[in-house]
Formats: sequence, C-alpha cells, structure tokens
Amino acid sequence: MQAQLRIRRYNPEKDSAGYWGEYTLNDVNSNDSVLDLLHRVKWEIDGTLSLRRSCAHGVCGSDAMRINGANMLACKTLVSRLGDGDSIKIQIEPILGLKVIKDLIVDMEPFMDHYKSVMPYFINDDPPPEDGRERLQSQEDRARFDDTTKCILCAACTTSCPSFWANDKYVGPAAVVNAHRFIFDSRDKAPEKRLAVVGDTFGVWRCRTNFNCTNACPREIEITKAIAEVKNVLYTGEI
Ligand code: SF4
Ligand code: F3S
Ligand code: FES
Repeated sequence: MQAQLRIRRYNPEKDSAGYWGEYTLNDVNSNDSVLDLLHRVKWEIDGTLSLRRSCAHGVCGSDAMRINGANMLACKTLVSRLGDGDSIKIQIEPILGLKVIKDLIVDMEPFMDHYKSVMPYFINDDPPPEDGRERLQSQEDRARFDDTTKCILCAACTTSCPSFWANDKYVGPAAVVNAHRFIFDSRDKAPEKRLAVVGDTFGVWRCRTNFNCTNACPREIEITKAIAEVKNVLYTGEI
C-alpha cells in the first residue's frame, strides 16, 4: 500500500514557525510500525527529520507521539491499526504541552521534574531483616500497586491530559501513577510525603476524570483508577 505522511516539522535554527512536511512512501506493509515509516522518511527522503527512539519494542518509552490525533508509541503502532486499503494517510506530531526542541522531539525536563517531585523511590530507614532476607510482603499487599509498577515514563498520559495542557504546573497522571506505586507499597514508610505533593494545589484534584490518560497509556495502566485511589486516600486518610 501507499502511505501519505504529514509530519510536523520545526527546526528552531532556521524555521520561524512549525510547518507540515508531506512524504509519500510506497510498498508499505500493514505490519509496518509508524516508527518503521518514520525511519524510511529519515533514511530515504530527508535525513534531517529528528525523533527519539531506542528499543523499537515498546519498552524504553522514548517515542510517544501524537498519531492521527491520539498519543501512541510509534514503535507499537502498526499501520493496520490506523486503516487499510491501497492508501493510508497518517498525521504525526510531537506530544502536546511540552516545548518542541526539534521536529518530533520535545523537552521532557518539566515532565521528569513532576516525576521526581513525588519521590519515586523506596523510602524506609528501618534496618533490614537480620537474616539478610528482603523485606517481605504478602501477595495481596503486592497486588495493590502491581499495575502502577508498569510505567515506562513515556509521557503519553500527561501530554494527553487537558488539565495539563491548561496548566503545566499540574503534576500530571504519570507522576500520580508513580506516587501510587509507593503510597500503596506496605514496605514504604513515606506515603505522607508523597501525599503532601499530590494533595497540593497542583496535585490530583486538578484531574477532571477525563480518561484521556488511560486511553493513551501503551502499558494499559488503569491510570484514572489509580488517581481515584490516591484521591480516596487523601479524602479518607486511610491507605
Ligand atoms: Fe506512559 Fe502509561 Fe507511564 Fe503514562 S502511565 S508515562 S502513559 S507508561
Ligand atoms: Fe487528565 Fe487523566 Fe484526569 S486525562 S483529567 S489525569 S483522568
Ligand atoms: Fe522504545 Fe518505542 S522505541 S518504546
């Protein structure tokens, strides 16, 4: 099949504003990923096209982009998901709400700052068990945060959230997901520190239960549910 790609381009060193680049690719297979197509544009047509990617298998989280109006990982999105027939149109833009550095590359620093603000690491100053074993946990306790361990920090959720677009001080769903992962870990001793961050002015109450985040997550994390669970802890005071 033939693919007609519209790709948002912007080079701050020579463009006064962004524009759409249009590229036609022949012999496209329905099993090709959008990342495969971007590679063909870069390697066969215009080597200046800039994008982030690494693993090409949905693991590293570096190639979240807005594809036909929805956030997805380019490497996990097959052409067959976007349409069929002899010809297909695909529009590709950088994720929204973060400053564009070049073409499809955005500045991830503000996103990572929100992530770091929730202290996304294990905190427990108690001495470890004397027998040298790990801190044990029941299967039920582990299950409480199993879903939120799966985040790959791709930012597809936060950059699809209207509340984040409206005010980028909102910590955003990815930060709440990673706060949830530790707040509900029975071995962690600092849930109140994280709850202070996500319960603040720019925390979870900015969430309007829009569900864009859940729809965008390539790891299928139930983000809106996790946010609701954090809201419930803030409301009831009980984990
Ligand atoms: Fe990406 Fe999902 Fe993590 Fe959000 S919660 S950063 S969409 S993996
Ligand atoms: Fe935004 Fe997700 Fe809430 S899209 S409004 S964080 S449910
Ligand atoms: Fe690693 Fe797509 S390139 S997730």
